[in-house]
Amino acid sequence: MEKKTSQLSGFYKLSPKERILLVKEFADLTDEEINLLQSTGSLDMDLANRMIENVVGAFPVPLGIAVNFLVNKRDYLIPMAIEEPSIVAGASYAARMVRDGGGFFANSTAPIMIGQIQAVHIKDPHGAKMAIYAAKEEILKKANDQDPMLVSVGGGAKDLEVKVINTQTGSMVITELHVDCRDVMGANAVNTMAEAVAPIIERITHGRVYLRIISNLATKRLARAWCTVPKKAVGGEEVVDGIIGAHAFAAADPYRAATHNKGILNGIIGVVIATCNDHRAIEAGAHAYAVRNGAYGSLSIWEKNENGDLVGSIELPMAVGIVGGATRVHPIAKIALKILRVKTAPEFSEVLAAVGLAQNLAALRALAHEGIQRGHMALHARNIAISAGATGELVDRIVERMVEERKVRLDRAKELLAEYQSGREN
Ligand code: MEV
Repeated sequence: MEKKTSQLSGFYKLSPKERILLVKEFADLTDEEINLLQSTGSLDMDLANRMIENVVGAFPVPLGIAVNFLVNKRDYLIPMAIEEPSIVAGASYAARMVRDGGGFFANSTAPIMIGQIQAVHIKDPHGAKMAIYAAKEEILKKANDQDPMLVSVGGGAKDLEVKVINTQTGSMVITELHVDCRDVMGANAVNTMAEAVAPIIERITHGRVYLRIISNLATKRLARAWCTVPKKAVGGEEVVDGIIGAHAFAAADPYRAATHNKGILNGIIGVVIATCNDHRAIEAGAHAYAVRNGAYGSLSIWEKNENGDLVGSIELPMAVGIVGGATRVHPIAKIALKILRVKTAPEFSEVLAAVGLAQNLAALRALAHEGIQRGHMALHARNIAISAGATGELVDRIVERMVEERKVRLDRAKELLAEYQSGREN
């Protein structure tokens, strides 16, 4: 009987090295695997250990640069940290097509995040709502006292809204702080403010406050991008119509819309990870926004103008920062931000919206034209060949064969590798 246990009390107190030894024993890791875990590359083990808990290593992901981006007439190189092949190539290709139409245009709202304070057990919720509005100045002051730095750069709690909602456990009075986060993502600032004002809300409502937390449905922090792609650049009238049909499909069917939006996020999330922003927040906000009208739909729109050219647009919440959090801690995130050359978080959010639209265009063009698999498969085949154990020039030869035979599978890669290695190549 195996005597392994995952109950490791005090694990958090150990050094990464000590933790690795415990994990080694638990999972029968080899010395080679241990060495790989310990070689954390550009993210120093000490730094990694300060970023999260129970650290045993770092996880490298390829960092690629999408090229050709022109947003509001400014050139951008786009760093993307992503494991999926064809995303960087797709974004670059789409940005090239969009350049022919003058590039992307983009704008954004003020960087306002919403912090929610949930008050319950209130006999007169509608009266309490009015009382909270009456105390607005006191509440905003208390919130702003928490973050003089943010206030000094023009940010801070600017307004509030109160709503009464009916729930399974009775009515609740929800106060929503509107906090201008300037160049930070804002979760820390907003959560601190929400916690600080809770006693005032309790005093005013005679209720009990439970949750005090940011909302990831950042409807007051939206980024928008749009572009016109000449029909010639996109591949002709038929391709334009195919892309418009693909959008109509996504707009009408949530099963397609989820995949359509995933394609948009493929690009955005790559950049968000490269800059060490919170990609879960972006994903949550994007999907919640896509269902804001009651039915889950497409985040982008594709139409045709009077010349028959393709017109694309996108609008989605974009809670990203260029200071604060891990963005200025992680050495590669710092470099990624330098490559981006964005001066403010709103500018960054606009570039991200453009990247999402580009990624969407790349996917829809491929889907509506030659199908996604041709381009995808060649790249996917590389991973398969490498997984089969191929190295050096054998990777290319195996990829070529698998794509030619339309058999991009691990078993075939292994067969081909064995063939090449034994010199039985034919
Ligand atoms: C694959 O990662 C993304 C696509 O499925 C997006 C789409 O279908 O629009 C190609």
